[in-house]
Amino acid sequence: MSKFIMVIFGASGDLTRRKLMPALYSLYTGGRLPEGFSILGIGRTGYTDETYREYMHDALASLSATTAPNPEYVRDASSSSSASVRTGAEAFCNHLHYLSIDPAQTEGYTLLAHRLQELSGEQEPDNLLFYLATPPSLYGVIPLHLKTAGLNRHGVRIIVEKPFGYDLKSAQELNRIYASVFEEHQIYRIDHFLGKETAQNILAFRFANGIFEPLWNRNYIEYVEVTAVENIGIEQRGGFYDGTGALRDMVQNHLIQLVALTAMEPPAVFTADAFRNEVVKVYESLKPLTAEDLDSHVVRGQYLSSGARKSYREEKNIPGDSRTETYIAMKIGINNWRWSGVPFYIRTGKQMPTKVTEIVVHFRETPHQMFRCQGAHCPRANQLILRLQPNEGIVLKFGMKVPGSGFDVKQVMMDFSYDQLGGDYPTGDAYARLIEDCIQGDPTLFTRSDAVEASWRFFDPLLRYWEENPDAPLYGYPAGTWGPLESEAMIREHNAEWTQPCKNLTNTDRYCEL
Ligand code: BG6
Repeated sequence: MSKFIMVIFGASGDLTRRKLMPALYSLYTGGRLPEGFSILGIGRTGYTDETYREYMHDALASLSATTAPNPEYVRDASSSSSASVRTGAEAFCNHLHYLSIDPAQTEGYTLLAHRLQELSGEQEPDNLLFYLATPPSLYGVIPLHLKTAGLNRHGVRIIVEKPFGYDLKSAQELNRIYASVFEEHQIYRIDHFLGKETAQNILAFRFANGIFEPLWNRNYIEYVEVTAVENIGIEQRGGFYDGTGALRDMVQNHLIQLVALTAMEPPAVFTADAFRNEVVKVYESLKPLTAEDLDSHVVRGQYLSSGARKSYREEKNIPGDSRTETYIAMKIGINNWRWSGVPFYIRTGKQMPTKVTEIVVHFRETPHQMFRCQGAHCPRANQLILRLQPNEGIVLKFGMKVPGSGFDVKQVMMDFSYDQLGGDYPTGDAYARLIEDCIQGDPTLFTRSDAVEASWRFFDPLLRYWEENPDAPLYGYPAGTWGPLESEAMIREHNAEWTQPCKNLTNTDRYCEL
């Protein structure tokens, strides 16, 4: 087997520094990268191998992503060193190289081809993984240059970040470009939510247990909430974010994936294609948005300043009159036997009171209530909460008799937390999991071309509507709040409110009353 080389385009960027390098380092410390691997960073910044190593070494240290390496695996480090973390990071950084070229220009690719020959010691290296962590505008350009340079050999794989496309048409065009350069089995469209253990656990929870699946349909479920909110703003990503917005950044990929995991049918076998076929079926069953839905079932918002927090329009690289959404809530439906008539309320937002990603399944109420309810939190109906982050776990809410005379009931919770699992499991980092899957040639948790198009097909009318109606409502919400009040109206049709997890969650204090 020839030497493994991972080439990262966008090597000096934020994603590489904050996510990819810590993930690769954690794979390294776990002995899960191929023997003798190299990582070649590509970017326009003028690093040399040495300065790039220093930069990444500092980044790893400052992110304190430096899990103590298992000396057994740190093959080329001195395992006796007391400063094993530092030594591990140093040893890891010795595998890093850097080539300063402009990935948009074809000229640099001859240099890249030479550098790969040099690093691999082979004339035609093909154990290569290209990772596109660049601005999306380069996603269509880089594969064509790779092809011109003859770097699209059979063993090569390519990981492309999201958003894959800007709308349906551009996604189709990108798929066409990729198909002209690579075979589909070489293309890995990454959505890091699928790399999260807890996202994968939705499948295990549903399909490895007999008790919930019979209830998992329109007969027993009233509605489902899917929430992925964050308490940070757009940070230093203004340039990217303003042309993207919450719909393209979070909903078209991450949130709709979570809907698919919650709603899909069990595949007959757990293979990449069987699983991905079921995901596509969900996307193809999404109830098309009507003209009326575009107004009444979609609420978009943008954060306003509040206290010390800036408004979106005051952030760096954001025009003062930007109408980009930083919040979106939608009601969507799935037209199939299992889900007909069951709304999925989804929402995502920046500058919310807390960071939380969870799915709340609201079961139907009992047909008749014969007990009195005690306290503010009456057991209207059972709820199942699949918590992806933080405090990963599963909560089941149910009614229980209040001890004492009479027959009052109140709502209580049964609570499983992932950290009770114990055991010596490998790191749960989503990027690490997905990069490792790609190295091993397993595309299960990556998005197939038909899925990406089916998802855009559903959201396209909304994007077009906003484009054609720039004055369509965009509601302000003060930073640090739960978003525009208009989103409450949508869910109120179920006589319900959005589940608001408490602000400062701790393991023992989940779902505190607000
Ligand atoms: C990324 C988005 O894909 O996901 C970011 O581009 C967002 O805007 C991030 O902050 C959230 O991911 P996580 O894993 O931190 O919930």
